[in-house]
Amino acid sequence: MKLTIIGGGGFRVPQVYQAVAAQDAPVRLDEVALYDVDVGRLDVIHRIITELAQQLPHAPRLTVTTDLDEALTGADFIFAAVRIGGLRGRIGDERVALDLGVLGQETTGPGGLAYALRTVPVMTALAHRIAQLAPEAWTINFTNPAGIVTEAMRKVLGDKVVGICDTPIGLMRRTSAAVAAASGSPLETVQPGSFDYVGLNHLGWLRSVAVEGIDLLPTLLADDSLLDGIEEARLMGHDWVRALGALPNEYLYYYYFTREATAKIRAAEHTRGEFLQQEQSAFYAEVGHAGCGSLQTWLDVQHRRESSYMAESRPDGAAGARRMDDVQGGYQQVALDLMAAIANDRPATMILNIANDGLVPQLPDEAVIEVGCVVTAEGVKPWPIAPVTGHMLGLMASVKAVEQLTIEAALTRSSELAWKAFALHPLVDSIAVGRALLDGYRQVHPGLARALD
Ligand code: G6P
Ligand code: MN
Repeated sequence: MKLTIIGGGGFRVPQVYQAVAAQDAPVRLDEVALYDVDVGRLDVIHRIITELAQQLPHAPRLTVTTDLDEALTGADFIFAAVRIGGLRGRIGDERVALDLGVLGQETTGPGGLAYALRTVPVMTALAHRIAQLAPEAWTINFTNPAGIVTEAMRKVLGDKVVGICDTPIGLMRRTSAAVAAASGSPLETVQPGSFDYVGLNHLGWLRSVAVEGIDLLPTLLADDSLLDGIEEARLMGHDWVRALGALPNEYLYYYYFTREATAKIRAAEHTRGEFLQQEQSAFYAEVGHAGCGSLQTWLDVQHRRESSYMAESRPDGAAGARRMDDVQGGYQQVALDLMAAIANDRPATMILNIANDGLVPQLPDEAVIEVGCVVTAEGVKPWPIAPVTGHMLGLMASVKAVEQLTIEAALTRSSELAWKAFALHPLVDSIAVGRALLDGYRQVHPGLARALD
């Protein structure tokens, strides 16, 4: 089997390789092909993986290419994890919004829409190439904003593209530990229907977790010591998760504490994008020049990245602090589990980004939502969930509407639709600011100015 990684020069790619090459990896690959447009970055990551592979007993053959067609040909699985516009693009997405007094964040709020506007056309073109050269392949999309990008790619690839994210997995990991502490038995997350998570990517809620048919979420929510082990509850307040009656995805922090998060990010010297650009450009330059020791450098930079995750927006003190358990990435695990379930036809339950198809009847069928799913060789199927109502439905519907406007704007090159999307985003408080966002993004992203009429 061949796995192709689009964005093979990306910083987190060695984590994926490490996962698929581990002794106990549930799936055996013959080849991992790294594709990237940037030869320098590709070379650095190639070097790190080569060092890693020396320690791994089942290291699949590694090939590296800047030829997309060569990369896609013969692929069984395609991981797409690219950052169109690079970290410079991310900085622009964050800064333009912050300078206008609204949230400036990679994926949430107007920054995410700007990111989507330049990413959707590229990923749509990639989807067409995949459809031509590897029509049987499964595409696993990590490219952010993952919900929007997956929805755009589905227009070409249908059910053969699935979006993934590590944040619901992190929430499930922490919740499972708390449930095990409360009940003495581990949460049977392998059972379809054993939990109810629903939302959009980076905007969802865990609404129940059942052990032997009994929902333990109310027990968990009532217990401060158990909630203390759950990062999301510390971040948004025990009282707030109790009031909600659910555990929110960590990105909901930006909706529930918009004012505080925006003020904190604006007051900081650097945005997350600026911090990462410094770190990453130093890393790629250093490893690009050095001959050996690249793996250790990568591990150090990776640790600094994970432990400072969301730091620019979190509250100071214990509530905002990360714990060692929280500092485990997880997206490579999601990707691996998904491949294994499909390749081995061993059913697995996971939280994935798939088409709504009536699951939340008030949302369009083609809307990509994030829900608990069973994965088999046949593909990905969600299980029935409780009705989504009230504020959850309202927020999902309004954010999904602006996501769909953004896709439409990108595909039809419509600046009017792009303005509409910015202006109607629930985190943008004026249509005039919506207009200013569009103008600002056109200025900092010349590609965007060219892409919209
Ligand atoms: C999580 C999210 C990703 C996001 C990343 C940002 O892993 O699930 O979608 O891209 O955080 O992390 P960073 O280190 O780039 O700020
Ligand atoms: Mn994510």
